[in-house]
Parts: sequence; C-alpha cells; structure tokens
Amino acid sequence: MRYDILTIFPEFFESPFSFGILKKAQEKGLLDIQTHDIREHTEDKHKTVDDTPYGGGGGMLMKIAPLASAIEDIKSTSRKSLVVLTTPDGEKFSDKMARELAEYEQIIIICGRYEGVDERIRELYVDREISIGDYVLSGGENAASVIVESVSRFIPGVLGNALSPENDSFNQGLLEHPQYTRPEEFKESKVPDVLLSGNHGEIDEWRRKESIKRTFKKRPDMLDNAILKNEDIEVIKKLKETDSPTFKLYIALIHYPVYNNRFKIITTAFTNLDVHDIARSAVTYGVKSFYLVQPNLEQQKLVNRVLKHWTEGEGASFNKSRSEALNLVALRNTLEDVALEIEEIEGEKPVTIVTDARSADNMIGFEGLRELIFSEEQKPYLLLLGTGWGLAQEIMERADYRLKPVSGYTNYNHLSVRSAAAIILDRLLSCKI
Ligand SMILES: C[S@@+](CC[C@H](N)C(=O)[O-])C[C@H]1O[C@@H](n2cnc3c(N)ncnc32)[C@H](O)[C@@H]1O
Repeated sequence: MRYDILTIFPEFFESPFSFGILKKAQEKGLLDIQTHDIREHTEDKHKTVDDTPYGGGGGMLMKIAPLASAIEDIKSTSRKSLVVLTTPDGEKFSDKMARELAEYEQIIIICGRYEGVDERIRELYVDREISIGDYVLSGGENAASVIVESVSRFIPGVLGNALSPENDSFNQGLLEHPQYTRPEEFKESKVPDVLLSGNHGEIDEWRRKESIKRTFKKRPDMLDNAILKNEDIEVIKKLKETDSPTFKLYIALIHYPVYNNRFKIITTAFTNLDVHDIARSAVTYGVKSFYLVQPNLEQQKLVNRVLKHWTEGEGASFNKSRSEALNLVALRNTLEDVALEIEEIEGEKPVTIVTDARSADNMIGFEGLRELIFSEEQKPYLLLLGTGWGLAQEIMERADYRLKPVSGYTNYNHLSVRSAAAIILDRLLSCKI
C-alpha cells in the first residue's frame, strides 16, 4: 500500500510512523508512506496556501490551486487509487471503512487546515470524505495518521499473525472479550478459571459470551449490525434480565385538556385500541406505568370495566400477556394526580415531556432525551401523549421538554397516538436488538 499525505506540516509525520508495527511494515516493503508539503506547489514567493472566503466571515480557506497541483502530481493512473479528504463533515471512520480502504493500492490523504478546503476540491478531486469523530481538530494530520494506522492493520502481513485483526474488537460487530496474561493472581484479582482449564471448546464459548456481554453493556448500538447465532440471542435474553441499564419512564395518555379540530378545549372519549396497544408497547419497553387521564365519570366507568375484564375477569385467564400489559394501566382524574403519585413513588417530581405532531421552537430530539433518561442521575420522566387534536397549550407551557415530532422523509404527519407512542418508545428505550 502506498500512502501519500498532503499537508502543510510534513514534520508532523516524523514520529507517528517511525516505530512499532508501521515501522516494521515499511521496512518489509508492505507500506510506503510519503508526505508532501503543499507549499511546494505554490507559485508566489511567500508560498501562500490560504485565502479569505468569498462572502466574508471569519477564518481562512485552503486555496484550490496548490492542492489541485499536488493531487495531480501524485495520483497514480496505473494503481487502484483513492483520494481522501479529512473533514469533520465526512462519513464517520470505522473498522468497516478501514477494511474497504485496505483494498486500494494508493491512498492520497488531504490534511485540511484553517476553515478547511475550497469546496471545488471536493467536487473535482475527492473520492471519499472522512471524519474521525464528531469534534473539530485544527488540522487533518491526526486524522490522517489514524486512517493510515487502522487501514494498515488489514493489509496482509502487516500484523505478522494474519488472524489478528479478525480477533480484534468490531470484527463481526462485537467488542473483544477480556484478556489476561501472567500472573494468575494480582492483588487478589484472579484470571477466570476457564482460561486456565486448557479446554479450548469452553474457552471459545466463554470468550464469545464475554464479547457479547461487553458489547451489550458498553455499545448496545453495535448489536443491531452484529452477526449473531441463535445461541448468542439466548445469551442476550439472559443479559436483559441481569445487566440491563435502569431508567424511570412513565407515560400518560391525556383525554383532558386537549383540543378538538376547532381548537376548543374538550374531553375526548377513550379508545379501546389505543389503551391495549400503548399498554403492550409500554411493557415491551419497560415503562413503569401507563396512566390514562380521564376526568369524565361515564368514561371512567367504561375504562374500569375494560381494565377489570383483562386484569381480573375472564380476559385475565384467557390471555395472560394481555393481562400483564393492562395491569400497567392506571386511570386517574387529572395530570396533577399523576405527577403527585409519581413524586410519592420516586421521592422527587417527574421531569415532564410533551409530544406534539406540530413543530415549535427549542424542541428536544430523541437521542438527547434518550441520553437524559439513561443518565446517571436516574430522574423520573413522565411522557405526555395527547388525544383529539393534541395537548392543550397550558400543558405544553408547563412541561420541562417538548419532544420533536416523529417524522419520515415525507411531510405527512397524521399518525395515530398508538403508532406515535410505539415509535417514540422505540427511539427512546430500544436496546437495538
Ligand atoms: C478547523 S478544521 C475545519 C472545520 C470546518 N470549518 C468545519 O466547521 O467543518 C481544519 C481541518 O481539520 C481537519 N479536521 C478537523 N476535525 C476533523 C475530524 N473530526 N475528522 C477529520 N478531520 C478533521 C480537516 O482536515 C479540516 O479541514
């Protein structure tokens, strides 16, 4: 593999590639890493590589001509070659991408500086834009050395033992299992017995389980793409019982005060389907209670009859899982009653979040709310779902957060509350497997 790194600071690369695996791989002729000073491609006596951006604004941009000249000089026509731009708005660099890049014979990496490069560099020369993470560095040099080091691990012969990258984290979408070396005991901490047993079948099984466990705990997001066998799923089922993160989310379906289609405040009638479906979603995602807020006495009688049928009556013995779901439902007169009840259970007021199909200023996103719910503070959260034409303004104004509407790539936004509830719960509480 040949790497050509374009930079205004070639001296940066004097050390990162001069020891360890990368040094040996260069000595063996497996890697050829060249750095090129972009200033050598300037034509003025000051060797200027930056200029002010059209349209004004702060900062400078890298000029197009020196970069273009450097790329044209270096790009090989006889090799399978790729031009990479390091940039915070690129595709997030990953193990999968490193494997893909290892298939090339030449990688040209552009290290930006200042506010980045003239947009036309991307249009005319760049094949792939890569970010090494959601943060901004002052230059692309660190990103380039990260790319070179991780791609090189997938080039045959570089690691010596050809199997090594396959045993590392991210292979098959899982993190690596814990590793130990001598001594067997250190400060009363022992190496697991199975690793000393000499039984390779058991060792492999233990490693696989530990790998799944570590991924489940540290990076559950990876499990969605992981290549799993049926026995792995059984391991995950057990982990869900013993190692799941904790959170305190309550939900309430509000029948008063809500709007009708002329924006008058009304009390809506209860919908059997909503109660069943939202209750089933609530149990699936580990919601603590599903409150129905309904002040109308006639409606309350009806709700109680339905709930009784499924939790105590014939329905309870007929369908146990439905009974489990409806046991989570609690009927209350007002939202204030719900908030007080949660405060009594949890010892603190719940943080309230309202949902709406309409957009407004300063709404919280799903990822942000998910982080809050799972954060170490472990505050109780109460998510409010509206009926009719949505929650009344007075509820909206009192809430701590307003959640962004659920949306796809169309502007149609007329989901039923039970569908919206299922999607919202999935985005907030899904364990991604
Ligand atoms: C100060 S940054 C430019 C930031 C740019 N104005 C923006 O807001 O997206 C200068 C250079 O550092 C490199 N860089 C900064 N952060 C990076 C990241 N997360 N991944 C890859 N390269 C990065 C890029 O080469 C970039 O052109």
